[in-house]
Amino acid sequence: MKPSVLITKRVYPEAVELLRERYEVDYEATDDGLSAEQLVERLRGKQAVMSQLTDKFNREVIARLEGLKIIANVAVGYDNVDVAAATEAGILVSNTPDVLTDSTADLAFALLLATARRIVEGHAFVHSGRWKKWAIDLMVGLDVHHKTLGIIGFGRIGQAVGRRARGFSMRVLYHDAVRAPAEVERELGAEAADFETLLAESDFVSLHVPLTASTRHLIGPGELRRMKRTAILVNTSRGPVVDEAALAEALHQGVIAGAGLDVFEREPEVHPGLLNLPQAVLAPHIGSATIETRRKMCLMAAENVLAAIEGRRPPNLVNPELWERRARG
Ligand code: DGY
Repeated sequence: MKPSVLITKRVYPEAVELLRERYEVDYEATDDGLSAEQLVERLRGKQAVMSQLTDKFNREVIARLEGLKIIANVAVGYDNVDVAAATEAGILVSNTPDVLTDSTADLAFALLLATARRIVEGHAFVHSGRWKKWAIDLMVGLDVHHKTLGIIGFGRIGQAVGRRARGFSMRVLYHDAVRAPAEVERELGAEAADFETLLAESDFVSLHVPLTASTRHLIGPGELRRMKRTAILVNTSRGPVVDEAALAEALHQGVIAGAGLDVFEREPEVHPGLLNLPQAVLAPHIGSATIETRRKMCLMAAENVLAAIEGRRPPNLVNPELWERRARG
């Protein structure tokens, strides 16, 4: 009998084809997603699942899975999977790093520019026919070039944002638990800074940390108050890294100048205080959403599935210790 794989939501067809060449594929070709109960039910007797960030593989769900070899998430983030529980249950977990680094960094920079230069507001203004004359202070925004960019989380995507900032002659500060190699700091002209200094000195603060217990609400009322009144916050990481209610309040009170957000605490819900605020530029979680990148992410997840089923080490494991433990016997 052929091994059997579940694809929980619509993906690029090339990935489905790749899996169908070898396995029985149970493909939920919709954008609806499966409930916990449906996941457990549909995974009965299957060896692998290709999942997305909306599929919640918590401890309770994982405890009910039998014989599953891998959860191959089509995302670099994997906060939707309880990795510790998966590891205990002997299930490999993989993600899709690297292929989305530049696309996500591009979007972070696009949000930064759009917010600072009021592009969305200007676009709506022109479209509505309200533009009647040129004026010296019409839609004036904030300079980006030669300003200070503070990057919180200086991994692949954070560094790629820093690389873009160089082209805008920006000063780049970063904060991360791990100091970047000297050659990276040199290449990007980036300076390590403590959290407080970064908040106080940055004109733009861009978030690039994974969502964990210690990064939930990393930016709350206190942190927002420590930022400049002219500062702009950009979030392309995960919504719960920012206390959304506190951010809405801060924008209404003028505590900071603006926010460019691609991610939200309870997607697709957005805090009502952020809606219809001209200084908040909002995108529907599209950091990696280019045709090329999303196709690569789907294929990469499919390759991880192939490897796990064929007994090879999946290339993008987030719990490699499980594989290594097995290899040691
Ligand atoms: C990710 O990969 O984690 C993004 O949020 C979705 O592409």
